[in-house]
Amino acid sequence: MFLGVDVGTGGTRAILVDRDGRVVVSEACEHQPIHSAEIGWAEQDPDDWWHAAKTAIGGVMRWARENGKAVESVGLTGQMHGCVMLDADGKVLRPALIWCDQRTQPQCDWLNETIGYERMIELTCNPALPNFTLTKLLWVREHQPEIFAKIAHVLCPKDYVRYKLTGEYAIDMQEASGTLLLDVTYRRWSTEVAAAAGIPMSWLPSLFEGPEVCGRILPEASSVTGLAAGTPVVAGAGDQGAGAVGMGILEPGSVSATIGTSGVVFAATAAPTKDAHGRLHTFCHAAPGIWHVMGVTNGAGLSFRYFRDTFTPQLGYDDLTALAAKVPAGSDGMLWVPYLFGERTPHLDPDARAAFIGVTASHTLGHFVRAVLEGVAFSLKDTFTLFEELAIPVEKIRLGGGGARGPLWRQIQADVYNHSVELLEAEEGGAFGAALLAGTGVNAWPSVQAACAATIRAAAVIPPTSAAAMQAAYPRYRRIYPALKGVFQA
Ligand code: XUL
Repeated sequence: MFLGVDVGTGGTRAILVDRDGRVVVSEACEHQPIHSAEIGWAEQDPDDWWHAAKTAIGGVMRWARENGKAVESVGLTGQMHGCVMLDADGKVLRPALIWCDQRTQPQCDWLNETIGYERMIELTCNPALPNFTLTKLLWVREHQPEIFAKIAHVLCPKDYVRYKLTGEYAIDMQEASGTLLLDVTYRRWSTEVAAAAGIPMSWLPSLFEGPEVCGRILPEASSVTGLAAGTPVVAGAGDQGAGAVGMGILEPGSVSATIGTSGVVFAATAAPTKDAHGRLHTFCHAAPGIWHVMGVTNGAGLSFRYFRDTFTPQLGYDDLTALAAKVPAGSDGMLWVPYLFGERTPHLDPDARAAFIGVTASHTLGHFVRAVLEGVAFSLKDTFTLFEELAIPVEKIRLGGGGARGPLWRQIQADVYNHSVELLEAEEGGAFGAALLAGTGVNAWPSVQAACAATIRAAAVIPPTSAAAMQAAYPRYRRIYPALKGVFQA
């Protein structure tokens, strides 16, 4: 059995996967809510992730013991980009600024002035964005110099859990790509960016490919998790990289569209494919020797959750979706732009705001829900539009996350992307990909590609049925952002 651990935003999940790719047991533990002291801020306590990881791993290990199963190796994945700052003794210095924290535009501006927008893309394949780790570190330097002075190690969220499990300061290439400190083309830290930004190289963890073993379970971690001391731990990948492995997205032409809290359209590429405007992320993939591009909508599943929690907390998602299913494609002209947390692809604008547009007195609750589901799909389609512009091939689209679970959102996606979409037999998210990386690391499979071929099966293909209505609505959706730009800035 291989253990996959996903240190997400809402909680940590641990699963055991067998050699046939079956998830035999799964345990989860929720995190404390995101702490947001000011609008746009988002922080979490790394020790809360560790607490959740111990609980979730402890749960699956109890099952393993009772059923006489051994865990051969461990793979980690999790929310990307967060900035965990540790002192020389490995103690957490302050809560982590996490991926959706939007406070660091001034630090991005500073990086653009100091290094240059184009040079940054040349060096790291990506522009400075508030989501990325380095900008968070620079915010702490500026606003909390007393804490900055004590930093000896910087880690991403899942890598803090790795540190607690193994005592190693380590990171995988895919996760490191989202720090803004990696030379993504050559798969090594960028000494030029680190020097220009004033970050000592000694703070950065050791780099590994996703399936490489980079540590072993410590005796003290063994006693609190039930994992045997000495069990190998592979580097793993950020949630998007591991999620793509778990969906078999490794060949050029294969693409996934995953709607979780955020929404991601992800394509594997044989070489780093950069957008000169930086609208897509260009990262190392979780498998050695390949790369990927992805476009990210910050408020995808979040849009639906926010809508329900705010306006109809008494109704379940299925009740709301049933109402939306009665509304025609195109929501009788109503549109939703999902920029609840600003937007990444394609606008790169932390100040963008969400909006319902075109509301009339004849619109019902079902229209609002359908508009939300369609608006999220339109925002993902913006990434497909960029793929077209950059000649990134799209042959097969696989759906993942909450957006793949109900028939309505699946169909909306097929119609909006104007392409059939594929569902997988079991779509288990990043933890599954992390477990496949773990198995590859101990030679259960000869490569990540072989692991995917042995374990991932497609279940259904859904063709578009109302593509015309959605293709007619998309240009109207595209006009909203430029029309609203600037309206909400001071
Ligand atoms: C990827 C990204 C999100 C987070 C949270 O760039 O920001 O996927 O990893 O899940």
